[in-house]
Amino acid sequence: MKKLLTVLLACAMLLGLAACGGDNGGQQANNGGGTDGEKKETLVMATNAEFPPYEYWENNAIVGIDAEVAAAIADKLGMELRIDDMAFDSTLVALQSGQADIVMAGMTVTPDRQENVNFSEPYAEGHQVIIVTEDSEIASSDDLAGKKIGVQQNTTGDIYTTDDFGDEAIQRFNRGADAVMALSNGSVQAVVIDLEPAKAFVAANEGLKILETEYATEEYAIAINKNDTELLDKVNAALQELKDDGTLQQIVDRYIPAE
Ligand code: ARG
Repeated sequence: MKKLLTVLLACAMLLGLAACGGDNGGQQANNGGGTDGEKKETLVMATNAEFPPYEYWENNAIVGIDAEVAAAIADKLGMELRIDDMAFDSTLVALQSGQADIVMAGMTVTPDRQENVNFSEPYAEGHQVIIVTEDSEIASSDDLAGKKIGVQQNTTGDIYTTDDFGDEAIQRFNRGADAVMALSNGSVQAVVIDLEPAKAFVAANEGLKILETEYATEEYAIAINKNDTELLDKVNAALQELKDDGTLQQIVDRYIPAE
């Protein structure tokens, strides 16, 4: 009974990756001592799949730029990719506790984060922008003083606006989409969030616009545990190849059509 349960659990973990019960059953749940060769090690990516077009759920799968770049990197490393979805502020915790090998989450390189984790070379430029209602009197970040600002918890949008306007001005949400909903129903007057998800959220909601003047420019990179310098080197090498051969740009172009 216990064994059956274990097998079922392993199958559940592998759902969608492979059929269970064959001679390959349980392939990459762990890499413990197989003799049948061919077993690929698993590269575990932690993310928060509430961030289109970088990572989001579609047809029961996590897709997006980060998901595809990670798959291409895993491929180069001869590894099998597994993506674990969690709250944004749990991703670095998962990394530091060894539950994940990399974090790809449209994650901005910041000096504070660099104290705790290593970052790969950047793979994209990020922009913090301001979303307001179409009829809003807010025209730039200067007008945010005295307003209620919605952010996704622990993102750079949260960190910068908290610095600039104080804790009382900020309302934090688990998902960027929830912050945007709060803007639509008037409980916050602005949302500060990354440009590409902002575009997706504004497209999905009536009556919102993105201000022309942006709040900050930043860089996205892959976070890796400080102890894992070998993986950092391998990931950087793979990333460089994907940049050089145009794969990275192709992936980006598929998700962010030129305007
Ligand atoms: N770039 C911002 C940051 O690093 C927001 C990232 C949010 N990512 C996500 N997958 N929810 O703080």
